[in-house]
Amino acid sequence: MAKKESNPTKDLYRELRLLPWIQLWQEEVPRFNQAGTQERANRVALIRAVGAGFSEANQPSLKQPVRQWLLSLLEDPSEKIRRYATNALPKIGAGRAEERQLLQLLQKSEIDREKKFVGQALNKIGGSATLDLIRSQDAPLPHLMEQRAKANLARQQKPSSVLLDATLPHTPTLRIHLRCRTGLEPILTGEIKEHSAQFCILEIRPGLLTLAPTSAFRLYDLYSLRCFSTASFLLGTLPKSRDLTDPLARVIASPLTRQLCQTFTQGPIRYRLEFVAKGHQRSAILQTAQKAYSLCPDLLNDSRQAPWAIEIHPDSAGDWVELRPRLTPDPRFPYRQQDVPAASHPPLAAAMARLAGPFPDETVWDPFCGSGLELIERARLGGVRSVLGTDLSPTAIEATIGNWRAARIPGVRTNFVQKDFRDFLQISGCTPGSISLLITNPPLGKRVPIPNLRGLLLELFALASVALRPGGRMVWINPMKIKPSDPTLHLEFQQTVDLGGFACRLELLRKR
Ligand SMILES: C[S@@+](CC[C@H](N)C(=O)[O-])C[C@H]1O[C@@H](n2cnc3c(N)ncnc32)[C@H](O)[C@@H]1O
Repeated sequence: MAKKESNPTKDLYRELRLLPWIQLWQEEVPRFNQAGTQERANRVALIRAVGAGFSEANQPSLKQPVRQWLLSLLEDPSEKIRRYATNALPKIGAGRAEERQLLQLLQKSEIDREKKFVGQALNKIGGSATLDLIRSQDAPLPHLMEQRAKANLARQQKPSSVLLDATLPHTPTLRIHLRCRTGLEPILTGEIKEHSAQFCILEIRPGLLTLAPTSAFRLYDLYSLRCFSTASFLLGTLPKSRDLTDPLARVIASPLTRQLCQTFTQGPIRYRLEFVAKGHQRSAILQTAQKAYSLCPDLLNDSRQAPWAIEIHPDSAGDWVELRPRLTPDPRFPYRQQDVPAASHPPLAAAMARLAGPFPDETVWDPFCGSGLELIERARLGGVRSVLGTDLSPTAIEATIGNWRAARIPGVRTNFVQKDFRDFLQISGCTPGSISLLITNPPLGKRVPIPNLRGLLLELFALASVALRPGGRMVWINPMKIKPSDPTLHLEFQQTVDLGGFACRLELLRKR
């Protein structure tokens, strides 16, 4: 195999990126400024390193001088230096002054490569001045995209948002895809049947339920369901062909996309385009977005802070094109103010709570409460008199207390204590048979290795036998196919669930 040729500029860039950013700024930049023409050309990687490292360095007070430096480099006699400065400017959050200067450079330059790079930078930061220039020309400017300038302007002027409360008139042909962790389909199905008369289930596949609306609905109605991971609207199915640009652009610009986006968006409609299973597809995305824009200039492709994602999901019968509201943070779990490293996936915690069922007068214990999601999700369903959360970690207990407070669940007695779960009987009020529901996602030994996980889980079973009252339930994630030695703990439900790349069992045991 031929040896890869080394590239001194790339090598230097890698070296410089290893240095503290402030050292680049305080030592390397002055050295660069004083260097002769040849050395400056040899060290252009510094410009890239300063731009790339700026936001990581978290030095907002230096933004102005860094900008000034890059702007001064746009006047450099060397095209290479100007090009590196052009590329670095968008990285530091450039504004109108930079836009003006880049536009001047674009008009002045006679070098095609330079024009291309200036065009690319303007596509990232250009606003009204860029738009004016594009519109004043009779022929399109080869490197400037009207769509990008419009999206930049829209983002800066009125950031759009997804409307949860707007109503979509009844559209019986609409198909909604709810994705969930594989294994949670039966629980999600139960939730839909019990709570959502506005939707009916048409098909259930592993990790995917297809619904149709039965009436007008709001996104708010969809997001009253708690056990799914993502919700999206099926816009169309792509033919099995090599070049998907045209068919995909037509689906993106279709009346259905427009109707959904216009109903559910406040502000200009911007979407991010993603090929879910294919990784970066820069040129396919660019071509498709340009084509879609020519068909419907109201829909703007924009990878930054777009309220919508249009996603291409693989399917054997032809890939699906789906429109997904990008709701971050998830409006269903606003109480999640604090987190712990191994926090449960919130829809999984909601599914566990549903599996536990809304029994009255519950005394609930989560021995490994982390940030408290299972306790909160169970308490939200009602019928809970008191909750106990134990965790070894003080940060976890702090997170549970903060999240519980934010969840605003009235009338429930709480006790969150930093303790080993094995100290249960030492906690005031915790006596044998005092718990009606033990609900927990224990340490799984994946992210944080546990020396003797089996031993720990056997101790959990032993303590569950003691703590649960007759008829009490244990709902938990079993990572090891482990069984209780106490025959009075009877397995009533078991389902293999994907916990993000590894399978565990979601179980319900009842104390006889
Ligand atoms: C998977 S996390 C729980 C996540 C939690 N369900 C949530 O929603 O954030 C497991 C938790 O068990 C705690 N833990 C580990 N060993 C423990 C022990 N012996 N007693 C109590 N807590 C323990 C860890 O500190 C961690 O917060």
